[in-house]
Amino acid sequence: MTRKQSQIVTEIAGIVRDKFTNDTSGHDWYHMERVWKMARQLGEAEGADLFIVELAALLHDWADWKFSADQSKDTEEMKQLLRNHGATEDQIGNICEIIENVSFKGLEKRSTQSTLEGKVVQDADRLDAIGAIAIARVFAYGGHKGRPIYDPSIPLNVTLTNEQYLKNERSGLAHFFDKLLHLKDQINTESAKKIAEERHRYMEEYVERFLAEWDGKR
Ligand code: NI
Repeated sequence: MTRKQSQIVTEIAGIVRDKFTNDTSGHDWYHMERVWKMARQLGEAEGADLFIVELAALLHDWADWKFSADQSKDTEEMKQLLRNHGATEDQIGNICEIIENVSFKGLEKRSTQSTLEGKVVQDADRLDAIGAIAIARVFAYGGHKGRPIYDPSIPLNVTLTNEQYLKNERSGLAHFFDKLLHLKDQINTESAKKIAEERHRYMEEYVERFLAEWDGKR
């Protein structure tokens, strides 16, 4: 990255921090910051263009479909921001393409990334949904949605329709089976796979202990 480029990344990071500070839905600035740092680490290991990787990571939830009231307005605002800070139209195009395809939009719309930079950013975002912090985020987000941590009357290991999945009415623990425990198999890069495997094992153990404690077996 050139000096000018790292200056742009620093400026955009400050703006994203200001926008997402005080968000309580689990999609807060610290999520963006973790994804940013992880994306940089993976991008370095994979030899990706770090300018594109870092900006796309910082901005990946700017116009998130789950939270945004007007997605096209938010996307336009983001493009203008990049333009004002000196990104070229080509770079903005690359960044927007990554962001459009990064988030998990339900079971039927498996998003794919065509560039190495996109694969890296998607991996960084998915890694944040696997592991110790992910466990905390599931229950924080569940609380935000009014979802119980666990409900024994709701079966855990079932195949959901996309509609059922998007309704999101199942329990926090069920969300591990619906989504988190599948993420490891959707990782793109070798560097991220190593991290995902370890975090995945930790989550499996967590779920096992949760259910054992629920039944007073531990
Ligand atoms: Ni995200």
